[in-house]
Amino acid sequence: IDAALADLVASRVLDVPDFPKPGIVFKDLMPLFADGDVFRQVIDGIVAYHGRESFDVVAGIEARGFVLAAAIAYATGVGVVPVRKAGKLPRATHAVSYDLEYGQATLEVHTDAFAGGQRVLVVDDVLATGGTAAATLDLVERAGGTVAGLSVLMELGFLPGRERLAGRPVHALLTVQ
Ligand code: PRP
Repeated sequence: IDAALADLVASRVLDVPDFPKPGIVFKDLMPLFADGDVFRQVIDGIVAYHGRESFDVVAGIEARGFVLAAAIAYATGVGVVPVRKAGKLPRATHAVSYDLEYGQATLEVHTDAFAGGQRVLVVDDVLATGGTAAATLDLVERAGGTVAGLSVLMELGFLPGRERLAGRPVHALLTVQ
């Protein structure tokens, strides 16, 4: 099943050279989102990997993580919390800044997002340098949650994402070299 899911992801990703900057090959997973059958299998695969009872809420990382988080939440009956780029959330937030593969960024989450020690499953489309995911896991804990797991559709194995997340649970449906 794991190999089948990896093949599915591999079959629905497009490499876009020089986006958003020269020298970056962007991994476009819109074809996976757009294929209903594949999307459902991927969502079900992520839930099966972690187990429905292992998390209380799903956090999606802006922007493509929102799509995954909403589907997992609907499939399992839990709620969604958005982890957003700076300046988007309306109430008091925790913020973490980090270096991206291309540039710098800040992510935020509402301070009361995970009150009561909720177990949080974090999802995103791509793990590259790991800055985004590392910042998000820190934000989950700052906001009172515990990290139940992290799933991404695709991991870029030639970048140090996994090292940056040492000691964290990292699940990638597909790792490319
Ligand atoms: C991409 C991707 C991850 C992040 C991974 O998001 O969706 O969130 O980069 O990079 P990292 O592991 O090097 O931190 P992007 O910055 O394109 O933002 P967007 O989803 O809002 O377009």
